[in-house]
Amino acid sequence: MALTMFGRAIRKIGVIGSGNIGPDIALHFSQNLYAHGVPVVVVDILQAALDAGSKKAESKMAKAVEKSVFKKDEANAIFKNMLFTTDYGKLSDANFVIEAAFERMDVKHKIFDQCQATCPKTAIFASNSSHMVPEEIFQKIENKGRCIVIHYFFPAERNIWVEVVSGKDTDPALVEYLMKFYEFIGKAPTLVKSRYGYAGSVIFEGLLLAAALTIEKGLANVKQADAIAQKALGMGVGPFTAHNLAGGNPITQQGLSEMHTKLMPWYRSPKILDDQVKSGKPWETAGKEEGVEYNPETYEAVSNRIMGAYFGMVCEIVESGITNIGDLEMALDVGLVMTSPFGMMNRIGVKKAFELVDAYAKENPGFKVAEILKKQAASGQPWKIPVVFREDKGNVALVKIRRPKVLNALNEEVFKQLREVFINIQKDPKIQGAVLTGFGTRAFVSGADIGMLALQKTPEEAEAFCLKSLSVLNLIENLGKPVVCAMNGLAFGGGNEMAMACSARIAKKGQKVFVAQPEPRLGIIPGNGGTQRLPRLIGMEKAWPILRNANPISSAQAKEIDLIQEEVEGDLIEVAIEWVNKILSGKVRVPQIKKDPIPVPSKLPEVDIGHLSRKIDSLLQRAILEGAKMTLEEGLKLEAKIFGECLLTQDMRIGMDNFLKNGPRVNANFVHK
Ligand SMILES: NC(=O)c1ccc[n+]([C@@H]2O[C@H](COP(=O)([O-])OP(=O)(O)OC[C@H]3O[C@@H](n4cnc5c(N)ncnc54)[C@H](O)[C@@H]3O)[C@@H](O)[C@H]2O)c1
Repeated sequence: MALTMFGRAIRKIGVIGSGNIGPDIALHFSQNLYAHGVPVVVVDILQAALDAGSKKAESKMAKAVEKSVFKKDEANAIFKNMLFTTDYGKLSDANFVIEAAFERMDVKHKIFDQCQATCPKTAIFASNSSHMVPEEIFQKIENKGRCIVIHYFFPAERNIWVEVVSGKDTDPALVEYLMKFYEFIGKAPTLVKSRYGYAGSVIFEGLLLAAALTIEKGLANVKQADAIAQKALGMGVGPFTAHNLAGGNPITQQGLSEMHTKLMPWYRSPKILDDQVKSGKPWETAGKEEGVEYNPETYEAVSNRIMGAYFGMVCEIVESGITNIGDLEMALDVGLVMTSPFGMMNRIGVKKAFELVDAYAKENPGFKVAEILKKQAASGQPWKIPVVFREDKGNVALVKIRRPKVLNALNEEVFKQLREVFINIQKDPKIQGAVLTGFGTRAFVSGADIGMLALQKTPEEAEAFCLKSLSVLNLIENLGKPVVCAMNGLAFGGGNEMAMACSARIAKKGQKVFVAQPEPRLGIIPGNGGTQRLPRLIGMEKAWPILRNANPISSAQAKEIDLIQEEVEGDLIEVAIEWVNKILSGKVRVPQIKKDPIPVPSKLPEVDIGHLSRKIDSLLQRAILEGAKMTLEEGLKLEAKIFGECLLTQDMRIGMDNFLKNGPRVNANFVHK
């Protein structure tokens, strides 16, 4: 069997190296590809490393079963799909090989020599080096077009960031394929140009250096610097703890030394890192529950320096042109689990950020202040951080919402950028239609950002807030060019409302939990057209329970009731583009949302609303039934007004607070039952 997708077939995967990270990379492949019958082979020269790798994979799967991430039989199948061996011959039919052995050029050269002799001529060769550029790793490979660096992050089976680093000879079609492939298997890939350390390692290792220098300066000890960096940058764990977890000291020592000549002179291996590597011991960081004490002066002195170094590094990286603000902002959040830098600079003020970097550069010879930061600070403007991306595919613009951490939830920035993008599409004579989609495989749009909804203080404010985002949906609906929604995952609340504003909807096949209007669970009603467009699109009788009971329906059910036009098994985007062209040529007719009042049947189906608020349900019924008697335009305004009225109920506060505190699974204890 194989995974045949995006014009290629992956039949067998090889992972070379069963050390810290190799088994985790293999486990991720196996979790995502076992169902397609794609086996994963892990090769190492040491049997002991293979045994340890296999044991680690097995225990990670056992934990995943405990946490109900996988069922027991799935976990068994995933583990059995992996083979741990010293025999390179087992790679003779592997058509995608990724190397995760020692961070040494001679070792990587030897391994790929062996792969070239063993694997099919067209096999993809990737290295998970943390620093080395593809041009050097694959120097001796005949067909360099198939060679690339794919840089994973700890823990590789769960961390969704991968850097896709193409070399000057890498085939652009392979790069395009791998970007799609990695998104398909649940990663958030960013494309990075070839430069030593790429973006991720430079920041990961640079932060350890910045923290180490505060220690060498006598400002803090390891525990303090670790805890302060963690707090100041909102990191999952501090830089020293992260190095303990990833076993990264020797690799960082080597990396920082090379960056000294290759990137900027400030980078170097600090003495305390050299000593630590010599000792072979982990850093003495605080235990999980252990509090670390420091006074406010220590916090300020250390955090200012760490922020200065952080902002300075990311600006230098963007200025180098290897990546961009949008990618880095997303990647550092999901991959290094820390507050994204450009948003953070916007919050404290870019001028203040520049001052921190400037002060850092004055104290640290060889630290560069990027020109882009100087310019931005002088402009008095915040950084522009893209979350909506447009890519033109011939006459069709592909628009993608990308906020993977919150499953592409809608916030003000998303609406603002969607408005800009769609206005440009409307004006662009080369573009005849658009595809609207979300990043990844889990969600098209998970809904509106709940934090943003909870900020609305008065009914008038809430009504205005709805009308503002609604105007973006109205723009999409009345664009004058077809917009096909490619629903790559679930669409809840505002996600479904946005999809309904499109000319047609197609979805990834087999989604059990696909579409819902879950607003009543939060003590509100839909505020972006759900109560108006859904009955107009699928009829009042079918819309009635979906709107009132807040339960999700599957993609198969959505197709049955004509909410979507097609369930797609293959490349969703390709099919969506075909739909745009079919609509343009008149080959298909798509349902039009009626702009006039619609009939309401004399008897509507009974709906069991369970624990949901009766008060909110009565507001919801009013929006649906009164809206049906109006034009769409009037109905949408009425809905926004009634949405505002929800703020006058106790149940809205109860619903919102419950959601923010307990998440979507716990039922709110509404007053009006
Ligand atoms: N550890 C991390 O979190 C991390 C993150 C990103 C990238 N990386 C990169 O991944 C690679 C591996 O890192 P690691 O931390 O797992 O290293 P490691 O030293 O823990 O493991 C390397 C493994 O490679 C094996 N090996 C060496 N030569 C081999 C050969 N010729 N054939 C097969 N196996 C061979 C070794 O026996 C060892 O088990 C490095 O290039 C590193 O820079 C590591």
